[in-house]
Amino acid sequence: MTRTISSIIRMDCTTKGSAADSTLRSDAAFTVFGGTFTVSGRLHTLISVRTCLSEAVKIANPFEDPEIAAAFTAWSSRDWNWLLGYPFLFRALDLGAEGEPGPVLDVGCGHGDVAAEVARRFATPVVAVDSSAAMLEIARRDHPHPAVTYHQAEGHRLNFVEAGSMRAAYCAFLLVGMPSREAMRDLVAEIARTLRPGARFVILDRDREIDLLPTQRPREGDLVTFPFGDGTGREITTHYWPISTYAEILAEAGFGDVRIERPTLEAAAELADPALLASRDWSTATGSRAYAILSGTRR
Ligand SMILES: C[S@@+](CC[C@H](N)C(=O)[O-])C[C@H]1O[C@@H](n2cnc3c(N)ncnc32)[C@H](O)[C@@H]1O
Repeated sequence: MTRTISSIIRMDCTTKGSAADSTLRSDAAFTVFGGTFTVSGRLHTLISVRTCLSEAVKIANPFEDPEIAAAFTAWSSRDWNWLLGYPFLFRALDLGAEGEPGPVLDVGCGHGDVAAEVARRFATPVVAVDSSAAMLEIARRDHPHPAVTYHQAEGHRLNFVEAGSMRAAYCAFLLVGMPSREAMRDLVAEIARTLRPGARFVILDRDREIDLLPTQRPREGDLVTFPFGDGTGREITTHYWPISTYAEILAEAGFGDVRIERPTLEAAAELADPALLASRDWSTATGSRAYAILSGTRR
């Protein structure tokens, strides 16, 4: 299965540069289910094959690989998340408002820095969940906090979380790794089960509709190679989900008052850490990117 997945990743890389002219090397081949497939013709042929594959093959969570987990933790581009992502997520959680105290759920907590910050900033317990043992090991080592409990998730079930017990929930850069709308629906429905009525659920993710030129934009659900790791050449394979897909999933899971925010540098000047803001000229920094925050209220 590992060979199968790396074949798909290689195929993705090979075709990346050809998106603009929508042609494809006629000899692109990949191996899946033990057989070799050859794709020829124009890009749309490949994209439809990729869509089928992403449905048929359950892509393993790349963060289960300890090397990927360590590289992700050390990745310096995460600075952008602290500029244009997490501060807006914290605001959308609406935890400063009056209300009954209670724990906050972080699904796909990764190495735990965001969960620990939520616990510190809002003086709240955080139930931090990840399916990768390697990521959780790093989280427990690097971001222990008396109010944060780390748990390993099995599939999309959060059986250890009581129904209606969470005051708010969020997931950051998690849904982009989900292989299908069904998988997202299952997970979001499970998150909804854990929330009290009136609780906010916030999704933070990259907005690739804005990052990519129209000619580069794949179709919903297609596999997309995502480089990370400070020039080490590491990359992981995610999926292309327009922000409108997340909004639909939220609505389908019964969340009301669904809002979408697209953070700007001007807005970040009011919200982000002043030391981070002063650390460079963000307006000219390379690698600028677009983020979206979606939130909804559990009815
Ligand atoms: C891109 S990382 C983001 C980590 C963190 N939220 C952040 O903002 O840095 C995605 C994380 O989601 C975890 N993950 C993937 N599928 C999951 C699932 N079904 N349930 C819980 N965690 C999952 C991965 O192991 C990984 O740690």
